[in-house]
Amino acid sequence: MVLRATIAGCGGYLPERRLSNDELAAQYGIETSDAWIRERTGICFRHIAAPEETASDMGAAAAREALAQAGVDASEVDAILVATSTPDSAFPATAVRIQAKIGATKGFAFDMAAACTGFVYGLGVADSLIRTGQARCVLVIGTEVYSRILDWTDRGTCVLFGDGAGAVLLRAEENGGTTADRGLLSCHLHSDGRFGDILHIEGGAGSTGGPGLLRMAGKEVFRHAVTKLAAVVDEALGANGLTHADIRWLVPHQANARIIDAMGRKLNLPSERVVVTVDKHANTSAASIPLALNEARRDGRIADGDLVVMEAIGGGLTWGAALARF
Ligand code: COA
Repeated sequence: MVLRATIAGCGGYLPERRLSNDELAAQYGIETSDAWIRERTGICFRHIAAPEETASDMGAAAAREALAQAGVDASEVDAILVATSTPDSAFPATAVRIQAKIGATKGFAFDMAAACTGFVYGLGVADSLIRTGQARCVLVIGTEVYSRILDWTDRGTCVLFGDGAGAVLLRAEENGGTTADRGLLSCHLHSDGRFGDILHIEGGAGSTGGPGLLRMAGKEVFRHAVTKLAAVVDEALGANGLTHADIRWLVPHQANARIIDAMGRKLNLPSERVVVTVDKHANTSAASIPLALNEARRDGRIADGDLVVMEAIGGGLTWGAALARF
């Protein structure tokens, strides 16, 4: 018998305000069109946080839902890991703010900065904490308010992102530890700082300057995305002796429909087995995978026993994949 981290509950939160492409263009005076954005990215809508709404507010809402679905009380949570590029403040960590908001008092809480790969990094860290017996009940949360770090005069980036939060509750379970047993099978994390400048935030706490806004060389990011994501998914499958045919669901980071389609083709998966939310949410960075998981779990697509592949790439560059049996 081995200790496995099982996904016991999922949750999500989207701000009330939803903007279509046309509404966004009109509101911010951007020279773009609904047709351009849909064709190049697949995005139709995004949610935008209310002025007073923070990453910890949204993360706490998603966490409460994950706890409720798992039937777990906040008092049982040993660790809270928050992936965010848009924390409430440099410290206290957004994770600690969420700890207070959900009424958890034991254990520890900290933030992780791995941009859009943050949730997969969070799964990797939580998996290690659970396998080594350091925690039995771990919340992994991705929560982002990118609307506050976008340059609303840069049409190459401001149309791509949205706000939101997603969460999973992981619980320790002793089982046979085979690929047929439930839980996280493995997580595979990578970074390469040589590509730090192709997707970064210019400025922020501790920097020597810059307005604190997101900058991106879109074409270069695109080029890295498909090759690195395909490689890391194959690495994850290979580490478990599995093949493309074993995948039931692909839950990819929701950056761009063209990247998602390319991944589906590389993995020989029909589009019905790829969970897509980028059309409705745009790119919510670290929140995108848990939001997509939550949707597909709640509407019954992801069933008990299904093998799910999650993959993401983001600023750093960072990228990674996780395999989970539900
Ligand atoms: N509306 C209309 N035109 C736009 C536009 C917009 N919102 N944004 C850019 N353009 C224009 C450019 O100015 C350019 O015009 P030009 O030819 O007159 O110079 C033209 O469209 C092509 O721009 P380009 O940047 O080459 O487009 P692209 O085909 O590479 O698509 C992205 C741009 C951003 C959609 C694409 O590069 C992409 O998706 N990259 C990956 C981004 C990503 O996923 N990042 C997050 C990873 S976590």
